Amino acid sequence: MSTEEGQTEGERLAELAKRRGFFFGSSGAYGGVAGFYTFGPQGAALKSNVEAAWRDRFTVREGNYEIEAPTIMPEPVFEASGHLDGFDDMLVECPDCTKAHRADHLIEDTTDIEDAESLPIDEVEALIVEYDLVCPRCQSALGGEPVESFNLMFDTNIGPGSTSSGYLRPETAQGIFVEFPQIKQYARNTLPFGVTQIGRAYRNEISPRKRIVRTREFTQAELEQFIDPERDTPALDDVADVAVTLYPAQQQQNENGGYIEITVGEAVESGLIGNRWIGYFIGIAQQWYEAIGVDTNRFRFRQHLSGERAHYAAECWDAESEVDEDWIEIAGFAYRGEYDLSKHAEYGDDDFSIFQEYEESKTVERAVVDPDMSVLGPKFGAQAGDIKTALETLVERDPDAFSGDTVEIELDGDTVAVDTDDTNFHIETQTVNGEHITPHVIEPSFGIDRTVYTLLAHGYQEDTIGDENRTYLSLSPNVAPTDVGVFPLVSNVEQLVERAKDVVSDLREAGLTVISDDSGSIGRRYRRQDEVGTPFCVTVDRDGIEDEGVDTVTVRQRDTGQQIRAPITLVAELIQSVQSGEVIFENLSNTYDGVEWANKTE
Ligand code: GLY
Repeated sequence: MSTEEGQTEGERLAELAKRRGFFFGSSGAYGGVAGFYTFGPQGAALKSNVEAAWRDRFTVREGNYEIEAPTIMPEPVFEASGHLDGFDDMLVECPDCTKAHRADHLIEDTTDIEDAESLPIDEVEALIVEYDLVCPRCQSALGGEPVESFNLMFDTNIGPGSTSSGYLRPETAQGIFVEFPQIKQYARNTLPFGVTQIGRAYRNEISPRKRIVRTREFTQAELEQFIDPERDTPALDDVADVAVTLYPAQQQQNENGGYIEITVGEAVESGLIGNRWIGYFIGIAQQWYEAIGVDTNRFRFRQHLSGERAHYAAECWDAESEVDEDWIEIAGFAYRGEYDLSKHAEYGDDDFSIFQEYEESKTVERAVVDPDMSVLGPKFGAQAGDIKTALETLVERDPDAFSGDTVEIELDGDTVAVDTDDTNFHIETQTVNGEHITPHVIEPSFGIDRTVYTLLAHGYQEDTIGDENRTYLSLSPNVAPTDVGVFPLVSNVEQLVERAKDVVSDLREAGLTVISDDSGSIGRRYRRQDEVGTPFCVTVDRDGIEDEGVDTVTVRQRDTGQQIRAPITLVAELIQSVQSGEVIFENLSNTYDGVEWANKTE
């Protein structure tokens, strides 16, 4: 095998990633900065294809709406969302070299404890003492050092003068929640509907690690599914038969606990997955990960332990992939309830509810106001009309606000006090056709960079063709950076070079991404494409040039090395039908001549 002896899977990947242009640490010319990576040409193409595949499955095929919100948002957004107070990690600083470490990770890396993140700070401090943990950089003892909460958001000032604080969003989700009052109109105020966003998010990680797994800037693809929990159910039947590997909380806490192999339908019916929507999205995610090439033997859904759940989540499962003998979270499926929209309704200045019509109208007692304009007019002048409207809105949202002698409303940033008597607050019996509800949210949230990392790790293969060792990336044709490599067999025969150019044009015209390469031996050119996961190579050779009739070329499949000879006019169509799964490459040799190829041995 060609692997350098002693390399871990992660080291092998990092080496290949840098050498072949998938990803590398950024700003290297200035010494680099931990937690920031640049995707090179191959990585950027792979990542973009993963995003396109996600968009196709979770936006287009689900009939959802995609938005693009800013990455910087003002401070009040994060006061409302709870990130300002609750989005912290545990930091311990080395007393000697001052290096900051994530305390829970030190414990997990050094002991058998698996979810130190869910432990309270005092227990983490005690564990550091109990296990005599030391600074990984300088080996000084960390026992007795305080563990502190460190907020992960990057802050910034908006505009000159620094009067307005903002934060780089720690999740794309907030852009969707904050814009809910606008977006609901495009959904004709009708639940259920889903909104997606693919974009950058930022977390000032204490210790970025595992290459592009834990970085300070990364790409998320998130879907916020807005539902009425009393009425809306997912199309669970569509995924009921999908087989999944689950690692429920109970099994994690049981010494002899293990995975449960089950269908999504059974998992939901038995209550193992406690929410039908989460079950539905887990089923879709399983299918999607399979389609883009995740190795399902190195993949599971793990339920969060209660202390591990984010501040907004009632139930949460992670999709996890196994890489480098470790499990990494690559997606989360959280039931966020009405947490987000009710918080933004409380802190924000807009209507985050949806009016749901009843099937039959009801008679109810309702708090109303009938502001006395003969009093408000002289008292508030031009503002009186706006005050009336604000009182009418407030009484619907918060009738208790009228329980004192005065009621306070916010108008253009000012607080205005109105005598409650002047509002004519009273309870009326009314016939109502519906009510305003705060939608609940189910959130499938995917880490795109981690998905790319998983695909590279799971796709990495070594074998021998003929007597030559090779490394290849068995990437799914759905996401491979390049669809086809096109080569003239030799570069000094004009006819072959010209014909190869024609093939490149034809394939590009058909929408395929193509790289052409005429440098080095044909074997080296195959190896180069194998290493970046190009599923097909087309070679133009003398044998295929016909005096009369249609020229032919060889088409080679990456994983098997198998080759067929096919008419030049059919190449694009053949490749596309193999890509779409309509045709199996191996079966093409029934129709087209096979070409001698060196035997592959594992
Ligand atoms: N929106 C969920 C997360 O960022 O983890």
